[in-house]
Parts: sequence; C-alpha cells; structure tokens
Amino acid sequence: MHLSRQLMLSLFGGVAVVSMLFALYQATTDMHAMRTEVQRQAMVLAESQQRAATQALQQGSAAEMQALVNQFRNHQRMAGAAIYDAKGQPLAITPGLALQPGTPPAVAKAIREARASDEFFRLNTEPMHILALPLSADGRLLGAIAVFHDVAFVAAPVWRHALTSGAQTLLIVGITLLIVHWSLGKPLRHMAQWLRDLRTGNASASGQPPREALFRPLATEMTRLATTLQDARAAAEEEARLRNAASARWTADRLRIAMQAKLKGSRLFAVSNREPYEHSRQGNSITWSVPPSGLVTALEPVLRAGDGTWIAQATGDADKETADELGRLRVPPDHPQYKLRRVWLSKEEEAGFYFGFANEGIWPLCHIAHTRPVFRGEDWEHYHAVNGKFAAVLLDEMNGEDEPVVLVQDYHFALLPRLVKQRRPDARVAIFWHIPWPNPEAFGICPWQRELLDGMLGADLIGFHIQAHCNNFLETVDRVLESRVDWAHFTVNRNGGLTTVRPFPISVAFNGNGETAAADESAAERTALYRELGGKPQFIGLGVDRVDYTKGIPERLRGVERFFELYPAYREKFTFIQIGAPSRTHIKRYQDLMAEVEEEAERINRRLRTGAWRPVVFLNRHHSHAEILPYYREVDVCLVTSLHDGMNLVAKEFIVARKDGQGALILSRFTGASHELADALVVNPYDTDELAQAIHAALTMPAEEREARMLRMRAVVQENNVYRWAGNLIGELVAIRLGRPEARRPRQPLAPAGKGAA
Ligand code: G6P
Repeated sequence: MHLSRQLMLSLFGGVAVVSMLFALYQATTDMHAMRTEVQRQAMVLAESQQRAATQALQQGSAAEMQALVNQFRNHQRMAGAAIYDAKGQPLAITPGLALQPGTPPAVAKAIREARASDEFFRLNTEPMHILALPLSADGRLLGAIAVFHDVAFVAAPVWRHALTSGAQTLLIVGITLLIVHWSLGKPLRHMAQWLRDLRTGNASASGQPPREALFRPLATEMTRLATTLQDARAAAEEEARLRNAASARWTADRLRIAMQAKLKGSRLFAVSNREPYEHSRQGNSITWSVPPSGLVTALEPVLRAGDGTWIAQATGDADKETADELGRLRVPPDHPQYKLRRVWLSKEEEAGFYFGFANEGIWPLCHIAHTRPVFRGEDWEHYHAVNGKFAAVLLDEMNGEDEPVVLVQDYHFALLPRLVKQRRPDARVAIFWHIPWPNPEAFGICPWQRELLDGMLGADLIGFHIQAHCNNFLETVDRVLESRVDWAHFTVNRNGGLTTVRPFPISVAFNGNGETAAADESAAERTALYRELGGKPQFIGLGVDRVDYTKGIPERLRGVERFFELYPAYREKFTFIQIGAPSRTHIKRYQDLMAEVEEEAERINRRLRTGAWRPVVFLNRHHSHAEILPYYREVDVCLVTSLHDGMNLVAKEFIVARKDGQGALILSRFTGASHELADALVVNPYDTDELAQAIHAALTMPAEEREARMLRMRAVVQENNVYRWAGNLIGELVAIRLGRPEARRPRQPLAPAGKGAA
C-alpha cells in the first residue's frame, strides 16, 4: 500500500510537535532541578568555609586566605572561590579562576544587604554560578566569600532531550506506518478486491467482506450495498431470462412495473394489526425486529414494490421514539422503501380488540382446532371502536389521494371496508382473510356474524387462500344476510354494492437471493447449530411455529415419540428441533399450550434420552428469519402439522431455503399449502401413527426421489410466489368498476358501535 505523502507528513508533523513539546517540558524541568542542586551545593560549600574565612580576614592573614581558596581547585564542576574585603576588593582568588576586574554584582549585593546572594552569569562566555556569603564578626561586616561553579553541564538536557525526541518521532512514525501497513493495508486490499468482484459480477471464493472488528460497521454497510447490488443484478438477469423465455413469472420488478401501470397514479395503502417493524429498547440502545407473522412475511414485499403506506398497531416499547409525532416513519429501517404509520391503542383497547374479540373470538371461530371461541360484549365494543380508529387514520392518510387502493388485512378488521367505503366511495377496497373461513354452522356461533359479514361486504373484493374458504363464506352470507349471491361469478350484491369473492393463495418471495449462503458461512452456521445440539445427529427434523393451538405442536411431538417406538434404530440418530415463538401470551389458552408443549418435550426426553442425546430440542423464543435459515438449510425433514391453517408459509419458506434440492416436507392436509404442494408427504396431523410413518418415509426415501419432489415443489413456489399473489389481487381489484358517480358523493359519518350496526 502506498500511503500518501500528505498522510506521512501530517503523521510526522503531528508526532514531532507532540514529542518536542514533551522534550521541552522535560528539559526545562531537568534544568530547573540542576540549577537548584548547584545553588544548594554552593550554599553548603560557602557555609562550610564561612568560619575559617572570617578568622583569616580578622587576622588579616593573606596566606591563610589564599590557602583556603586554593582548596577549591579540584572540586567537580567547581570553578573556584574568592574572598573579598568589606569594599568588595578581592583578597584571594583560586588560581586559574579568571575573574574580571571589579566586584561581581552578587558579592556587592551580599555585602550591601548582609545576606547570601547568588546569580547565574557568563564569565568569558562560559556559563557560571556565583554564590556570595557575607563574612562578619562581632556585628562588624568584614567582607565576603564567593564560590563559583561551572554550569555548562546544566544546558546538556536540552540537547539530550532534543535528540531523544527526534529518535522518538522517527520510531513512533515508523511503527505507526508499519501497523497501518499491516493492519489496514491487508483488509483494505481485501475490501477493494471484494468490491471489484462485486462490480464485475465475479462470485469468486474471495467474495467476503473483511472480518476485522475495525471494519465491521463499514463491512455491514457495504454488505447491504452489495446485497442491493446483487438483488438488482439478479432481478435484471431474471427479467432478461424471462423476456428471453417469454415466461410470465412474477418478480418484484414485474410487480412494481405492473402496479405502476395498473394503479395509474393511485396510491397503495395496507392496514393490518401486526406491524412489520417493531422498535424496542435494549439497555441504552434501540433495536428493531420483524415479528413472527405469516401476514408480515407476505405483505412486506408488496409494500416494498409499491412504495405504499402501511398502517398498523404500534407494539414495540420504543416505537414512539422512532416515529414522528403522527407515528410515521420510513421502513425497512436499514433500507427505507415505504411508509409505516403506527397507531397506538390503550391497554383496554388492545385487550378487548386484539386479545379478546380477534384472538379469543374470531381466531378459534375460524380455525377448526377444538378451542371454544369466547365472545364478550365489551370485546365487541372495543373491536368496533378500534376498527373505527384505524378507519379514521386511513382516511387521514388517504386525504388528497384520488381513487386510492386499499388492502385491508385479516380478521382484525372485518368492519373496516364498510367504514372506509362509506366515506370514500372512490377508494378501491379489498380485504384479504389470512385464516380459514368455516362452514355456516360453525360461523353461526358468533353473535355478531351479521355485523362482521356486512362490514366485509363493504369491500369491492374479498380474498381467501383457497376456493373452499370462498365457498364457505358465500354460503354463510347466503344464509345470514339479505343479499344476492351469484354463484356463477362468485359475487355478492348487497344493497346495490357488489363484492367479488376470490381465492388468492398467498406465498413468499422467491427471487433466488438471500436464501443462499457462502460455503464458509454455511460451515460456520452448521458448527453453531451442532454446538447447540450438543453434537451432530445423523438426522434432524424441524418444526417452526408460533406456539399456537392451531399448529398441532403437541400432536407433532407425539408423532415423533411414536416414530422412536416404531423405529428404535433411530434412537440416538434422529433429533427433532421445535422452534416455537411465544405468541398471544396474555391469553390463558396460549399459556396452557406453552406449558403443555414444554411438558411433552420433557416427558419424551425423560423417557427416551440416552447419554448426551435428546430426542427433542424445544427452542421457545422468537427466532428471526435469518436465524431460522440455517435450520431450514440443514435439516432432513420439516414438519408442518397444523390442525387447521389458512395457508402456512413455513412450508413455503422451507422450500425456498432448500436451494440444494434436499430435505423433505411433511405437511398437514388441513393447511391451504397442501392444495398446492402435492409433492410434500401429506398427513392427517391427528393420526399419530401416520405422522411416525411419514417421518420414517422422509428419512428413508431414495435421494433422487427426495430431490425430484423438492425441485417440483420449488418450481411451484417459484411460480406461485407472493408477487403473483399481490399482482393478481391488485389486478383484480383495480379491474373492478367503481359504483355510479352519484355513489361517490355522500360522505357519511362513521357508523356507531353496537349490535344493530349491520
Ligand atoms: C396469523 C394471522 C396474522 C397474524 C399472525 C401472527 O398469520 O393471520 O394476522 O399477524 O398470525 O399473530 P399475531 O397475533 O402475533 O399478530
């Protein structure tokens, strides 16, 4: 590496100045100390001779005086001594001490003031020190004795320190340059090479950012930049490939272009309860995370492609600090692409709307999972009020937007479509129901079924995952409401408003990026995973769920247990990992379920464990998508055994992650996903023996068959990805002709809460 001249000069200059200042300070201190020492010595010497000199003066003995000053001839650093009479005339001087004629000022001062006096001066250009002591007897001043020191040595520290400082400067600069060369040069060269590879699209083995701690923040940013670059390149390549193949596969770019064409300037709005990014406080810092939610997984790519506005409940404890006063911010936090508007609910609102009506009422009502729905009047009031609150925020966001396009999400907002359409008939509103719709008898349990249905029918389009859910919905409407259901076109006409009901099987993004890991990254992930498992099992099974009673987790664990009973040879060879994100933990049923899962895992482990091997590993915390990926990539079989599920995106995420074409999928026939993924091992999750057999079949299946199945499933998910879901949903919505012009005029107030609102 060639360091620039400027860097070297500034380094050199900086170090030299500091080092010189330091040397100057040291030299001054040393000189001061030496001068004080000379003064002290001079005083001691003069005092030691004071009495003898006084006697000699009293006696007027010139010989004694000369003998006295002669003693000082060979003293170290001492130039000599002299005795003066009371007028300051020299009476005796050490031979060789070439004093100038006259009285030295220090002597004159000592005689005048009758006290010791000293000074540093130059004697024939030589630096000298003189100390004079007055000599007196019986109160009479007789003269003075003066001692002279050669103080040339006092200047020596200046030179010594100047030289040391020069040497120090050279040494520090030299060492710094070497350190810079070794510690920065190599990683910088590495980074340059990495960037060059990226730019030229050369995915060589060196394609890794530098790992040094110093470079970590830079490497993180550069990695993001690189991912964007790779994504852009991959998207361009994919587009080119598709153009070439004249295929109609949906990609993020195609969705963006299609949406621009279809929306014709209309803006896209999404409303959901769960927000895509939650900010939380950790010590003194604020971090963000993506909550575990199939809805978020699916909707995020759509908002990214459409630069829309997503309205959702604020659930993070640092959500306030990270948004403006209206709760707005751009997300994703590390790469902003669309707007999030957060809505705050009070504790009571959240309890009634979210935990109560939505999750203790509608959720079990729509999932046939044998948990009784609970409907309370006060929960309904909150549900109604919160739908109104979100409608007001949405209307505020849509203000000034012509013919906005609104995607309402899920069972939390059944009343929202009607509330919005009443105020903005020009808006195109769709509601997508992410969970199953049961048959009319089951739905009839709900005391507010009419209100829910009427609220939903405010939408121009209602989407479900599969046709069976559409049929159940239309049958329910047919039985409950005054309306005309057109079974040929799957529409409902209620009071002149037309609603189309269609299946849109939701999916995940599949763009060929982000799912692969570099070879050494995979190796590191594998090592960490096996460390967590306490060793490398021969086979691994995996379950990934929110801990929810619809997911069939205890049933799955019993299936694993049965597998070991039927196939004991797999003991110590097969480990089942259950990743379980705690969910809706304020609801008792969910607390009970968490305890049940923990107990089941413990019971099975107690019964079957040997040595360090445990048949079941239960990881009960939320894992980010990035944390789950290594598991997806590593395991032999993934078990999705929901008792009932609208779609289930874990199954599809697993397939997307298996770029290696390996791994088998066991899938409940009660998931929406099983309608598309015929190559999974489809099971009845209540049938413990069937589950055990399916695990065995997955582990013993010939490798070619496993790969062929996985490749076919990948083709299905790639084709039916989330971009297609969004493209079809939005395409269908914008194709709907809005009502007659007069229908646009009335701006009615929001309907009041109450059981008779329908
Ligand atoms: C299902 C629902 C989503 C919900 C998700 C997570 O996928 O359809 O609406 O967001 O579960 O549940 P939570 O209650 O944590 O949002």
